[in-house]
Amino acid sequence: MTTKELKAEIRKMCEEKDAIILAHYYTIGDIQDIADFVGDSLALARKAAETDAKVMVMCGVHFMAETCKLLSPDKIVLCPDLAAGCSLADSCKAEDLKKFKDEHPGYQVISYVNTTAAVKALTDVVVTSGNAKKVVDQLPKDAKLIFGPDYNLGNYINEVTGRKMLLWNGGCHVHERFSVSKILELKKQYPDAVVMAHLECKAPVLAVAEVKGSTATMLNYAQQSDKKQFIVATEAGILHEMQRTCPDKEFIPVPPEISESGLECSCNECNYMKLNTLEKVYNCLKTMSPQIEVDPEIAKEAVKPINRMLELS
Ligand code: 13P
Ligand code: SF4
Repeated sequence: MTTKELKAEIRKMCEEKDAIILAHYYTIGDIQDIADFVGDSLALARKAAETDAKVMVMCGVHFMAETCKLLSPDKIVLCPDLAAGCSLADSCKAEDLKKFKDEHPGYQVISYVNTTAAVKALTDVVVTSGNAKKVVDQLPKDAKLIFGPDYNLGNYINEVTGRKMLLWNGGCHVHERFSVSKILELKKQYPDAVVMAHLECKAPVLAVAEVKGSTATMLNYAQQSDKKQFIVATEAGILHEMQRTCPDKEFIPVPPEISESGLECSCNECNYMKLNTLEKVYNCLKTMSPQIEVDPEIAKEAVKPINRMLELS
């Protein structure tokens, strides 16, 4: 099948099976083009909670599909490739968080949405990079807080809210590799460009960024700005939607950093997100698998902090 035929077949199966395709901005352009909805983690969670469709195909990573299932337990949630994990979610195991909580009685746990359902089940409120400040601002000023697993996001939220949350030392293997030197090199080349960075980037990178936020924050800024050039420090997949919605503007991805070995690593692409292909979307709709299931005991607890987030944001 050609790509065009494959896309047409996928859309046909969506009609037949009452399915919708949800895609994150980091997935390949071909998937974003056939999706019913493309968004950041927060918007995807909201969509999953409100859809009437019987089936959701979550083109993103595993925790996103799990969040869809937690919010819509009666729906079928398909995940084109179960190996699409997340290095950030991997950096916080439920048993380690449980131990940390036990060592810190009286603390509330704020977890980034990039976590497993088992971690969410140990959490008081979930946040995304799109709403973390708003949610934290609404918690009592004297609350003792643990924030995890993304250290850089937690550190930034501490800075802008004046909180002193205890931070988990986790990180994203894509965002942690952006360097200030690469950004400054690009800024010399494009002096009028606005530097935008995702909140998962390290503090020095955020310090040189004029726009800091979630994928949707950066996209909205670019769409509304009078500026014509943007240097983008996040996963390069977002450039598809930026370019599609702002055809007269120029988006410059921050390139991979040279590793110690001198070899370039493709660190501005998330290998997990890129596991989603049109063929896998086609196959999962055809076979109605793999489906996401969450242990009911874990699901009962894990959905509470997600709903709390949706109420507070
Ligand atoms: P957003 O919520 O900004 O889409 O981020 C999700 C993510 O995985 C970033 O690496
Ligand atoms: Fe996880 Fe990083 Fe990939 Fe986002 S970019 S899904 S945080 S590994």
